[in-house]
Amino acid sequence: MTTQHHFDVLIIGTGSAGLMNALQLSDNLSVALIAKDKILEGSSYYAQGGISAVLDEKDDFESHIADTLSTGVDLGNETAVRFMVEQAPSAIQALEKSGVVFTHKGSQYHLTTEGGHSNRRVAHVADKTGQSIQTNLLANVRNKTNITLFEGFIAIDLLTKNNQCYGAYVLNKSTNNVESFIAHKTIIATGGASKVYLYTSNPDTSTGDGIAMAYRSGGRIINMEFTQFHPTCLYHPHAKSFLISESLRGEGAKLILPTGEAFMHKYDKRGELAPRDIVARAIDSEMKTQGFDCVYLDISFKDKDWIQSHFPTIDKKCASFGIDISQDLIPVVPAAHYTCGGIQADINAHSNINSLYAIGEVAHTGVHGANRMASNSLLECIVFAKACANHINQQSLTLQHPEFDDWDASRASLSREKVMVTHLWDEVRRIMWNFVGIVRSNKRLHSAQMRLAQIQNEVDEYYRLYLISSDLIELRNLVETAQLIVKSAILRKESRGLHYNEDYPNTSHKAKDTII
Ligand code: FAD
Ligand code: SIN
Repeated sequence: MTTQHHFDVLIIGTGSAGLMNALQLSDNLSVALIAKDKILEGSSYYAQGGISAVLDEKDDFESHIADTLSTGVDLGNETAVRFMVEQAPSAIQALEKSGVVFTHKGSQYHLTTEGGHSNRRVAHVADKTGQSIQTNLLANVRNKTNITLFEGFIAIDLLTKNNQCYGAYVLNKSTNNVESFIAHKTIIATGGASKVYLYTSNPDTSTGDGIAMAYRSGGRIINMEFTQFHPTCLYHPHAKSFLISESLRGEGAKLILPTGEAFMHKYDKRGELAPRDIVARAIDSEMKTQGFDCVYLDISFKDKDWIQSHFPTIDKKCASFGIDISQDLIPVVPAAHYTCGGIQADINAHSNINSLYAIGEVAHTGVHGANRMASNSLLECIVFAKACANHINQQSLTLQHPEFDDWDASRASLSREKVMVTHLWDEVRRIMWNFVGIVRSNKRLHSAQMRLAQIQNEVDEYYRLYLISSDLIELRNLVETAQLIVKSAILRKESRGLHYNEDYPNTSHKAKDTII
C-alpha cells in the first residue's frame, strides 16, 4: 500500500521561494517541505549579484517600475510589477530579520547595479547573496516545529480531481517507493527549467518539474518562449555552470573580443549595461560572425584588494582555473539562465487550479514580461512567497479529500536500458541549444518540434514499462517543458525581448502573452 502523509500545506521545493513561504505560514499549520536533492541545492544558493529594492533616497518606486517594464519590452503586468516593487523594502527587512547581513558602506547599504537599472538598487552580500539567504532561511525553518523537511523526495505528479489539487505523488529516493502527500494547499516552488539547454548557469535541479506537473494537471502555462541567456558564464573546459556576475559590469567591467576590441557600444548606447537579451545577442552575433569560441570580460583595472572584498567567490573560482581576474581577461560565453514563463499565478500566487499555488521562478506572475531585469528574481521569490502565505493564513482549511488510487507499480520491471535515459536527456538538451537558442528561425523550431514529439513517445513508453527513477522523472519533465518552450516560440509571430526569430524580426505594436 502507498504510504500516505497528511499535512495542511505541501511545499514542493526549498529554494528561497519555498523556504520563505514556509516561514511565513501560521505556526498552527502543519507544513511539509520537500526537496528532490540536498535542501540547499537549487538556483537560489548560487545567486551572486543580489536583490533589487529601492533603498537609496535618490531612487524611487516609479523608476524601478519603469525599468522593469521597459526591460520586459512592454509585456509585463504593471499591477504585478508595482506590487513587487512596493513590497521590495519589506522583503529586504524580512531577509534581515532572518539573519541576512547585506554589504554596507558605512551606515548605508552598498548598492550595486546591473543591466536595465537606471539607479543603484541591488542589495547584496558580497557575491554570495544566495548562499547567505539560503543558509539563514534554512536555519530559521529548522527552528519551527510545525515544518517537516523531506530531503531526497522528488514529486512526480500532482493529485488533482475536478480542477482541485490535493497534494502530490512523491518518490522517496532512498527507498525507491512512491508515497502520497495529501494537503489542503499545495505550493509549487520547484524553480526554473534552464537544464533543458546544453549549456546553463543553473544547477542540476532546474529541470522544469513544476511546470510539467502543473501542465499535465490542466495548469495554465504562459510565455515559455522567453528563456533568458545570461551573457557571461565562465568559458573553461572544467568549469561546470559557473556564472560571472553581471555586477562586474555594474562596477565597470568591459566586454572585449579576442582581438582586444570593445564591441557593446555598436549594439546599444547603454553598452555593457544594456538589458541581458541585448548583450547576450550581441555576444552571440560576434562569436558566430567572427568564429570566436568566447569573448572576454575585463575587470583588471580594479586592484586585487577591491576585487577580493567585492567578488571573493568569483575571484577564488577563477583562480582555481589559473585566471587572476585582477590581471587576466575572463573568458565568457552566454548560457541559459532563467525561465521567464511558467505557471500562471495571480497576485496571491494562486494558479487556475483550486488550492494550487506557484511561487518563485516556476511561476508566471507577469513581473518579468519578455525579459527579466537582473536581481528581480530573488525579489519576486520573496514577495510572492509572502503574499501566498498571507492568502493561505486567512483561510480556514477544512476541505475533505477524495480517495486516490495507490501508485501502480505492478507492470514495472527494472530497466536494463538505462543508456536510453542518458541518451535522450542529452539529445533534448542539444536540440534545444542548437535549434531553440538565442536566435531562432521557423525551420529550426519546426525541426525541434518534430524530434521532441518522437522523444516524448519514447519516454512515455519507457515510463509505462519500467520502474520509476529520479532520472526518468526529470527526463519526462524535461521533454515536456522543452515542447512547451518550442510550442510557445512557434506561436509568437514576432521578435520581442528574449525571443528573437529571424523570420519575424520586428516587434508588433500590441504586446500579447502566449498562453498554453
Ligand atoms: P530554486 O532556488 O531553484 O529551488 C528549487 C527547489 O525545488 C530546489 O529545492 C529543488 O530541489 C526543488 N525541486 C525541483 N523539482 C522538484 C521536484 N520534482 N520535487 C521536489 N523538489 C523539487 N536572481 C536574482 O534576483 N539575483 C541574483 O543575483 C541571481 N543570481 C543568480 C546566479 C545563478 C548562478 C543562478 C543560476 C541564478 C541566479 N538568479 C539570480 C536567479 C535566481 O537565483 C533564481 O531565479 C531563484 O533563486 C529561484 O528560486 P526558486 O526558489 O524559485 O527555485
Ligand atoms: C548575476 O549576478 O549576474 C545574476 C543576477 C540575476 O540573474 O538576476
